[in-house]
Amino acid sequence: MVLAVLLSLSTLAVGAAIDKRAVPAGYVAAPSYPAPHGGWVPEWTDSFQKAAKVVSGLTLAEKTNITAGTGIFMGRCVGNTGSALRAGIPQLCLQDGPLGVRNTDHNTAFPAGITIGATFDKDLMRRRGEAIGEEFRGKGVNVYLGPSVGPLGRKPKGGRNWEGFGADPVLQAYGAALTVEGVQSKGVIATIKHWVGNEQEKYRMYSIIQEGISSNIDDRTLHELYAWPFAEGVRAGVGSAMIAYNAVNGSACSQNSYLINNILKDELGFQGFVMSDWLAQISGVPSALAGLDMSMPGDINTVPLVTAQSYWMYEYSRAILNGSVPVDRLDDSVTRILAAWYQMGQDNNYPEPNFSTNTQDAEGDLYPGAAPGSPKGVVNEFVDVQADHAVVAKEIARDAITLLKNVNSTLPLSLKASLKIFGTDAEKNPDGINACTDQGCNKGTLGMGWGSGSARYPYIDSPIDGFKKRGANYSFYNSDSFPSNSNPSTNDVAVVFVTADSGENYITVEGNNGDRDSSKLNLWHNGDDLIKDVAAKFSNVVVIVHTVGPVLLEQWHDLPSVKAVLFAHLPGQEAGDSLMQVLYGDVSPSGHLPYTVPKSEDDYPTSVSLVSDVVLVQPQDTFTEGLYVDYRHFNKEGITPRYAFGHGLSYTTFSFSSATITPVTKLTSTPPTRPAKGSTPTYSTKIPAASEAYWPDNFNAIFRYKYSFLAKSDADAAAKIGNSTQKYPYPAGYSNVQKAGVAAGGAQGGNPALFDVAYDISVVVKNTGKTSGKSVAQLYVQFPTGISFDTPIIQLRDFEKTKELAPGESQTVKLRVTRKDLSVWDVVSQNWIVPNVSGDYGIWIGDASDTLNLRCGTKAATCVGGQTSPV
Ligand code: NOJ
Repeated sequence: MVLAVLLSLSTLAVGAAIDKRAVPAGYVAAPSYPAPHGGWVPEWTDSFQKAAKVVSGLTLAEKTNITAGTGIFMGRCVGNTGSALRAGIPQLCLQDGPLGVRNTDHNTAFPAGITIGATFDKDLMRRRGEAIGEEFRGKGVNVYLGPSVGPLGRKPKGGRNWEGFGADPVLQAYGAALTVEGVQSKGVIATIKHWVGNEQEKYRMYSIIQEGISSNIDDRTLHELYAWPFAEGVRAGVGSAMIAYNAVNGSACSQNSYLINNILKDELGFQGFVMSDWLAQISGVPSALAGLDMSMPGDINTVPLVTAQSYWMYEYSRAILNGSVPVDRLDDSVTRILAAWYQMGQDNNYPEPNFSTNTQDAEGDLYPGAAPGSPKGVVNEFVDVQADHAVVAKEIARDAITLLKNVNSTLPLSLKASLKIFGTDAEKNPDGINACTDQGCNKGTLGMGWGSGSARYPYIDSPIDGFKKRGANYSFYNSDSFPSNSNPSTNDVAVVFVTADSGENYITVEGNNGDRDSSKLNLWHNGDDLIKDVAAKFSNVVVIVHTVGPVLLEQWHDLPSVKAVLFAHLPGQEAGDSLMQVLYGDVSPSGHLPYTVPKSEDDYPTSVSLVSDVVLVQPQDTFTEGLYVDYRHFNKEGITPRYAFGHGLSYTTFSFSSATITPVTKLTSTPPTRPAKGSTPTYSTKIPAASEAYWPDNFNAIFRYKYSFLAKSDADAAAKIGNSTQKYPYPAGYSNVQKAGVAAGGAQGGNPALFDVAYDISVVVKNTGKTSGKSVAQLYVQFPTGISFDTPIIQLRDFEKTKELAPGESQTVKLRVTRKDLSVWDVVSQNWIVPNVSGDYGIWIGDASDTLNLRCGTKAATCVGGQTSPV
């Protein structure tokens, strides 16, 4: 009986009976306990001290109330924690999404992550983060549910790649770190998500009948690709992290102790709190022991909304009282949450939420999940948070535009050009710009993908609006089929707008379940046919693509009349004038591809295809391609893509010359020893009095709302077990003794020595053409020959965009490579090692991954131009 009670929480794991033998040998989720206490890095000491002081005065029910949401639709925000008002701790409002405040009004719909990635502009990445931070703060959101760096973009058809910054860990890392810095500079807690390996949408969630897909990732690949951007987000001081729905190596991310305890909290030195994705939590005790700190939105995943059931809240109170979760585990979670709150200064006049994610009405249910009995009140105050953010949004949309092809300088256009414009993407959705919930349709101008990563548009400046405002000479055919009345004439320039969309799994759009499983990598709405039909009648065709990721261009790319092709990515609300500025040559295009554009889907390794048609058993997605995703794969296999990663033309030309390389930190094969962990708060291990969890007298509970209280009899019974000699059957290898920390850790992001600059590199970028423009210096590392580690031929390690350079003007661009950039993850020693300290690393510089003609060598510390690009 006693054992049954103790086990009751741990056996709630959904699908526990399902056979998991399908996880291939060698892909292991080793147990890692206990969860490291937070607070051991100097940057967080003050906040942890403040938080620990508060926590020491909280009751058990107050503590467990802070670690979970009050239930789905139980508050104004997409996630709402419980409060401890007696101690001055309010409910926290958690809200999507990465590109702007979701489900509200008077907000900016910023360009998506993939679009800011395509700018390759660090300054814009940071400024976008600041503007987003201002809007979340202005709406009273405590926790911004972004940036997204998982998925990385391993699967070109993956549904949510567009929320992140591109199919490369370093591009993702800069996107993440600069977004975190920008958002948090405004006092908003950022959330790096989804940890980790959620590379496809289908099968992502655990259900009663099937376990979530298992991303089987080897240790080296995890470190060198998928964890890399998270490490940089942590290094930037991110306050929270969200686990992914899927499993990794057979163990659900929400209770994968290896991923949370060992890698995130110990090796990467993450000091903030780890939340579940929405309804991703599948157990009570195991998830707590595995390091989860916050359950969102607070419900159990099988029957949300039906009852007030939660894995945590009152169950967490019970688990503390009966001894199944050590008290210090709960204390650490609460302290981490409050420390993040103090770290961002939210104890100082932080605004309360003034909007509702659930309705657009001014008044309504305060807790729609409790309907019909919910109390009512004002829920939307329509606070305008847009300020002048449209300016930075437009700059990003413009500077992301990636010119892929431009024969005979067809672009820029002259204002006098006679334009025939085709494609419904050129104009707003006639049903309304927000006609589809969470942008779950592809109708009209495509400014973002669909799902929780979307926001409502305050307006869309469509391409047609842009042409109109320019006073362009155009006719528009608002159809995706070639019209019979376009009257082609030889002087016409035909401009064709086409799209490819994707999104999150809970909405299916035109047969696509989030991933592009139906459309594949093809253009939507018969875009290929439209372009071919136009190209058959017009001799000057410009193709403009709004897309979530790579698309196939082969059916029409080489047709003689297709003169120019550009990707405008996902521009958010600023689709029109941003494009006009490029089309009419106010500025030169300066975006670069944040992924490879293939010639065929077969160009990719088969292992990155979508996993489908799996019934009942856990779908297995084994990352057998290892490090070889996107350009790393194309280069290894010698496959010439249609356009290489990093490609992007300008109206002008640039030269890269006079490069220098300066050794800064002398390399050693292993990094210097990490600093020891600083002290962390000390927590009592004594089980609290059962009375700390009793329901208060005469409490007026809201229907289905999640509370942390227990009936007196339940609390007393739990405490009796906890105070007996019975002990909870902790997992194999469990220990509650805090550890010193792994060798590869030592600070936020890992051993600080990993980020020592090994070499400074400078290069002179000169505008050698006749028009002003910005260039991007991209730096790729090639490991020395003869090392015992198989490494991709080249890997992006740094980039820098120039200012706008006038013809003839030059700028000296500074780049750097760190110790980590020159290291590999050694699975045996569990550390980053430089495989050959005196070897000759090639530091290649150019403006695309396939045009690297300038090589600096580390051995001679010299740079030579005019080289043959290594790929
Ligand atoms: C599920 C999504 O995966 C996550 O990114 C989002 O933040 C939550 N839902 C909340 O909407």
